[in-house]
Amino acid sequence: MKNKPFLLVANWKMNPLTLKEADRIIKSLEKGIRAMNKKDFFQKIDLVVCPPSVFLGRLPNSSGFNWGIQNIHWETRGAFTGELSVKMAEDARCQYAIVGHSERRKFFGEKDQGVNQKILSVLGGNLNPILCIGETKEEREQNKTNDVVKNQIYQALQNVSALNLPRIAIAYEPVWAISNMSNPAIQSSNNTYLNTADSPDDVMGVTILIRKILSQMYRSDITKKTKILYGGSVSQRNIDGFLDTDILDGLLIGGASLSMFEFLPIIKSCYENRSK
Ligand code: 13P
Repeated sequence: MKNKPFLLVANWKMNPLTLKEADRIIKSLEKGIRAMNKKDFFQKIDLVVCPPSVFLGRLPNSSGFNWGIQNIHWETRGAFTGELSVKMAEDARCQYAIVGHSERRKFFGEKDQGVNQKILSVLGGNLNPILCIGETKEEREQNKTNDVVKNQIYQALQNVSALNLPRIAIAYEPVWAISNMSNPAIQSSNNTYLNTADSPDDVMGVTILIRKILSQMYRSDITKKTKILYGGSVSQRNIDGFLDTDILDGLLIGGASLSMFEFLPIIKSCYENRSK
């Protein structure tokens, strides 16, 4: 039996398109969890749903999972058209904020410095940050994964006190491994899979590296309390491989979290793994 709850985060991204549809997804999620009939479910699984912000505070939640916001601004208030502050997310019942997702970095020009400002702002409030890091396909092919991961963590955690480490989750999401759920695995020349989820072995290697980076930065035992997650094309087909590594504290799930056909078996596998 593992003592801390497994952090299972559903990132809906820019889906679904209507409140009605979002409501339908949440209701089938709740129904699925109820049907599992596990009294200790939420002691084992910290389930976090991150819907589009416009739906936050407007969806049912009778079962006890948590809410997260997909992006946040670093300023507390003011003339920042289109942005949302930490207080607003808290007011909409969020406990978590995703920071530095690769889609934010790629499509909206987010840089490490801004990611750091957001982390500091989230920690200044009552939200827990889920910091996303990960290399691109080109960086992976050039064997730069370790350097990229190290650099992103160093930059994102500038001026973050060790005392805050238990509140932080670091999600390793290789950019090339995102949104490939339905692709067949094609092995590239250097033996890595670049159009599917990452391999559990490689994820294990990066998880160990992240722990090492944290202990170099902080030289303190408290780094063990930072949660390390994997994200990128997790599905009911490959979930067991990730859980079997026994090294991850959670998962960040995109596409599969919108379909209860996919997500409920994933949730069940996580619960069973946590109950061993
Ligand atoms: P997919 O699970 O759709 O690959 O998305 C992963 C992700 O980006 C979660 O933040």
